[in-house]
Amino acid sequence: MAASRGEFSSRIGFIMAAAGSAVGLGNIWGFPTQTASNGGAAFVLVYLVLAFCLAYPAFMAELLIGRYGQANAVTSLQKMSRTPFHKRFAFLVGFGGVVCAALILSFYGILAGWMISYATEPVLTLGSANSAAAWVVEQSMARNILFTALFMFLTVFVIRRGVEDGIEKWSKRLMPLLIVLLLVLIAYVFTLDGAAQGLNAYLNPDISRVLEPDLLISALGQAFFSLSLGTSVMVIYGSYISKNENLVSLGAQVTLIDVSIAFLAGLLIIPAMYVAQAQGVAIFAEDGSLISGSGLVFTVLPSLFDTMGSMGLFVAFFFFILMSVAALTSSISMLEGPVSYVVERHQIERKKATTMIGVIIFLMSLVIISNLGVMLDFVATLATEYGQPIIAMLCCVFVGWIWHRSEILKELQQGNETVEHGFFWKIWPWYTKFICPTAIAIVFIHSL
Ligand code: PFF
Repeated sequence: MAASRGEFSSRIGFIMAAAGSAVGLGNIWGFPTQTASNGGAAFVLVYLVLAFCLAYPAFMAELLIGRYGQANAVTSLQKMSRTPFHKRFAFLVGFGGVVCAALILSFYGILAGWMISYATEPVLTLGSANSAAAWVVEQSMARNILFTALFMFLTVFVIRRGVEDGIEKWSKRLMPLLIVLLLVLIAYVFTLDGAAQGLNAYLNPDISRVLEPDLLISALGQAFFSLSLGTSVMVIYGSYISKNENLVSLGAQVTLIDVSIAFLAGLLIIPAMYVAQAQGVAIFAEDGSLISGSGLVFTVLPSLFDTMGSMGLFVAFFFFILMSVAALTSSISMLEGPVSYVVERHQIERKKATTMIGVIIFLMSLVIISNLGVMLDFVATLATEYGQPIIAMLCCVFVGWIWHRSEILKELQQGNETVEHGFFWKIWPWYTKFICPTAIAIVFIHSL
């Protein structure tokens, strides 16, 4: 079975693929943006705590479900089920995750398309194609359709090749590129006037804000989005991990990479904003808060690049390539969720299934593009604020309440014989059973 459905060929292959899924626009755009609008370092602090104390345990639950089941999310959850009711519940949770991944990809592809379009602008400017350069950075339906299609094509291209030749190979190529680009850009921004002030704003927490409910909700949502939880994605990636690997340490390494890259992205974006301010660009909105959201990425930063003369063209190009690469390693995981489901449950050949689902999701993107102002927000909220937390919570319920403790231990012991005596096994089962579902439920109810 394993050979025909594919498996990551190496430890590093899995780490790159899972970190690739985790590290995306959420880290490089979402995290700095949220930090900017939630009191700087106070948000960073809360995020770090929640990522390790709540998102990591939930992430481990999803990886474990997949590695145990060696199949797509629905089949894996059903393998753990003992009664017909459990099986129906398993279907609901697994299929919910698959739908959630598809919904996220339908809007994520549009945002990623913008990243590609902004990356082409400096190239067109250098080639003196000025009207084309202006067109690619102007909101228009034609531009959105073209670049979303291009991005979806790239995603489909990788997933058609399967686990080893597609996901693993491309993650191993793109993730190091992303890290190098990020470090080079940080080093460059740090040489500019204003960066030190930005660093100060980023790293000095206003402790009084740490317990603000809105900040807590945003930080938890961000941590769940960033680890791709509640989407069936980590279940399916878990199912491609060999039984000889130590899941506990693999999961911790991926979490660490994800959190570190979000932190590094903050080191780039927040100082860059203050550099922009030193160049005369407005970085505060009328209410006195730092400009965030799309205004930050598509207005403040491009204005900063404009002040840099011809050097700015290169910096802009590398910055938006960084964004596009981050988005691609995430989008392939989102597509893999539904594709693995269709391939395994409906016996459709992978290439055909990938193209078919790619087209369906692209059509969903078209619906969003046709009414961007309303639909983008609606789909993003539905999938990330409702779908992801609910499904992640149900996965924890599955592991904590339905699966036998002895079986969980047996699965964890594969690749980690001494797990029973370690800290993880003392804390985690209890955590997944009580703390995670309760905390997610509280935050979720609060956000309503
Ligand atoms: N983790 C990705 C990011 O931070 O951008 C987003 C993501 C990927 C969400 C995969 C959901 C998913 F299934």
